[in-house]
Amino acid sequence: MSEREQRIAVLGAGYVGLVTGACFAELGHAVVVRDILPDRIAALRRGEVPIYEPGLEALLGRNAERLTFTTDVGEAIEGADVVYVAVGTPPTYSGDADLSAVWTVIDELPDVERHIVVAMKSTVPVGTGEKVRHRLDARGLAHVGYASNPEFTAEGTAVKDFMEPDRIVIGAFEEADGDLIARLHDGIEAPIVRSDVASAEMIKLAANAALMTRISFINEIANVCEATGADVVKVAEGIGHDRRIGKSFLQAGVGFGGSCFPKDSLALKQLAANSGYHFQVLNAVIEVNELQKRRVIGKLTQLLDTLRDRRIALLGLAFKPGTDDTRESPAFVLAGRLLAEGAQVIAWDPVASSDGLSGVVQVDSVAEALRDADAVVLVTAWPELADVDWAALAPTMRTAVVVDGRNMLDPETMRAAGYRYDAIGRAATNGLD
Ligand code: UGA
Repeated sequence: MSEREQRIAVLGAGYVGLVTGACFAELGHAVVVRDILPDRIAALRRGEVPIYEPGLEALLGRNAERLTFTTDVGEAIEGADVVYVAVGTPPTYSGDADLSAVWTVIDELPDVERHIVVAMKSTVPVGTGEKVRHRLDARGLAHVGYASNPEFTAEGTAVKDFMEPDRIVIGAFEEADGDLIARLHDGIEAPIVRSDVASAEMIKLAANAALMTRISFINEIANVCEATGADVVKVAEGIGHDRRIGKSFLQAGVGFGGSCFPKDSLALKQLAANSGYHFQVLNAVIEVNELQKRRVIGKLTQLLDTLRDRRIALLGLAFKPGTDDTRESPAFVLAGRLLAEGAQVIAWDPVASSDGLSGVVQVDSVAEALRDADAVVLVTAWPELADVDWAALAPTMRTAVVVDGRNMLDPETMRAAGYRYDAIGRAATNGLD
């Protein structure tokens, strides 16, 4: 190893831990990834990647000699200069982030005598770094440094987001510790934002909150478009050209899901509430999203008169394209509501599974899903849905009704293909008048 290259331990082999480990290995560092799940570690040692993330398998394979996997925390930390914490922080029943996995790994850290830096990748409430600092100090580990180095990687593009980020955020108690974390990223071209620990923690939460706010905002604009005869796709294009607004995250649809936004919105809301502050905008963002996930139910009821005994095809189970992750997926909320209304639900997804959704029949092709269906709902914007021969499939349905929950298809083409077509925020073409 050259002087620039460091030894890094990554605690947690989930999406974030594996991407972090693989990317640091790609940058030339020696990385040990540790997880408590023996099966996961055994699979990784065999070269199998337990999650679906484009580019990750290739990266792990290419850097195999710089990557080791273990269940033993002592082995992971031995010789490490930096210890990344990348464990899950799921919501508790109150919405607060559950930090038990974070505390477990912090308490498991061996009593090292040398100077190492603990770097937090897990998304944690503001103030966590301060608490970790006290806990380490109380154990006589004042010489162990601490930094917050949040991740801004999205599932499906995580490797690219790590290697070509918009920015790298580092908040440290000691400047030298922040310098070390910055050096780990040598080779990545991106502005580095250095801050105090609390601000770095807040940057992560605020970035996600800003993105969610845009989604709920455009979804509300969509709902007003439906009521007033405007088309949200055109509206998003028209406002997106304004450089102060920008184009991204303005796709109206059936709401946001995933392992981050829903959890992080609750955590930030709760963090504010715990400090006595009522975060009004964020509360509205969450509420709008919950209503948006259910909006398709109203549309289907209007189109089909009733949902009882209707056969509904759901296209897409993943919370977004490019991943097999179904956590907080709008598809699951929709399926649950449809079943509760007495409908039959047939689902298709190229990679995600309907496991955990009892009562849903999953099929292998779009054609199978549509056969004899009373309506089809596009829930996830899988690119392959744009290539489906919709005209050929219309006659195979009992009634050719489409609700395009991601505004993917061209309304005129779909209507010409024989469908009653509705979408989100496209009143002018919804065929409901
Ligand atoms: C998100 C952020 O984009 C990442 O920057 C962040 O690091 C990550 O959370 C995290 O905190 O770990 P991710 O949840 O993987 O990443 O997915 P996104 O691509 O952000 O999509 C989230 C949800 O918003 C999806 O359900 C998607 O369909 C929805 N969405 C997104 C819209 O409804 N409209 C849009 O215009 C964009």
